[in-house]
Amino acid sequence: MDDIITHRDIISLQDGGVLTLRLNRPAKKNALTRSMYTALADGLIEADGDDGVRVVVIAAEGSDFSAGNDILDFAQDIPALTAGDVDPDSMPVFRFLRALTFFSKPLVAAVQGQAVGVGVTLLLHCDLVAAADTVRLRLPFLQLGLVPEAGSTLLLQQRIGHARAFEWLSQGEAVTAETALAWGLVNRVVAPEQLAETAQALAHSLLKLSPAALRHTKALMRDPHALWPIIEAEGRIFRQLLTSPEALAAFAAFLNR
Ligand code: COA
Repeated sequence: MDDIITHRDIISLQDGGVLTLRLNRPAKKNALTRSMYTALADGLIEADGDDGVRVVVIAAEGSDFSAGNDILDFAQDIPALTAGDVDPDSMPVFRFLRALTFFSKPLVAAVQGQAVGVGVTLLLHCDLVAAADTVRLRLPFLQLGLVPEAGSTLLLQQRIGHARAFEWLSQGEAVTAETALAWGLVNRVVAPEQLAETAQALAHSLLKLSPAALRHTKALMRDPHALWPIIEAEGRIFRQLLTSPEALAAFAAFLNR
């Protein structure tokens, strides 16, 4: 491994043609802050323009992949949202979602333990996903008074069908590794100690293929220009609902635990 670049909460590590972006805030279950979204967006944008990077792996330190958006950040956004004073393009989360949606090279994820909210919906943008058998995927958007984001209103039902998608979203149950594999949400389930190696092997297997053929295949399988307007539409409703009484009560309950 070489080229270790360390942002406080995102470690970027290059091994040949494979760049790994590792969430590194395990004490907070890798909940994603604005600065983490910015570092992830920067990492993806740079990787897309760098011929030396052929595949990106998204992984996480600690026993859990990610608790989703940092709830304190949500709460701090509320005054500006209430005042209608937010330009979505200036929001780090939107910059990250755009970089993820338009990323033209293969994306691999390594996921373990708890993955919540955007910690799950980002996986729907990945081309290969390795999961530890400890994985528990949760989409609590409706329970928080919010709508699903990151294109998941389309990507989730495309992947697992409307019946499963709606039941998962509305009932709020965690999806286990076994179910995630059966539903086609992940490609491999392994013991936690084999997770990093499995994800890296999947990523390195892609280095044998033509970068141009991979890029074209990805673009033919998913058109980011068709997906982006859905993410924008979800974002408009999501921002409105962040100031709803249900969402405010859910955030207060979490922050005052
Ligand atoms: N935002 C901010 N901080 C978070 C967080 C989040 N989304 N999720 C966890 N944390 C923090 C906790 O406040 C706690 O901090 P503290 O040690 O300073 O008190 C620390 O991370 C550990 O979390 P804890 O809840 O004690 O761990 P757990 O193993 O009992 O539960 C989760 C893990 C992920 C199930 C639980 O933290 C959770 O449900 N988090 C909220 C998930 C969520 O609703 N995300 C938004 C989706 S849109």
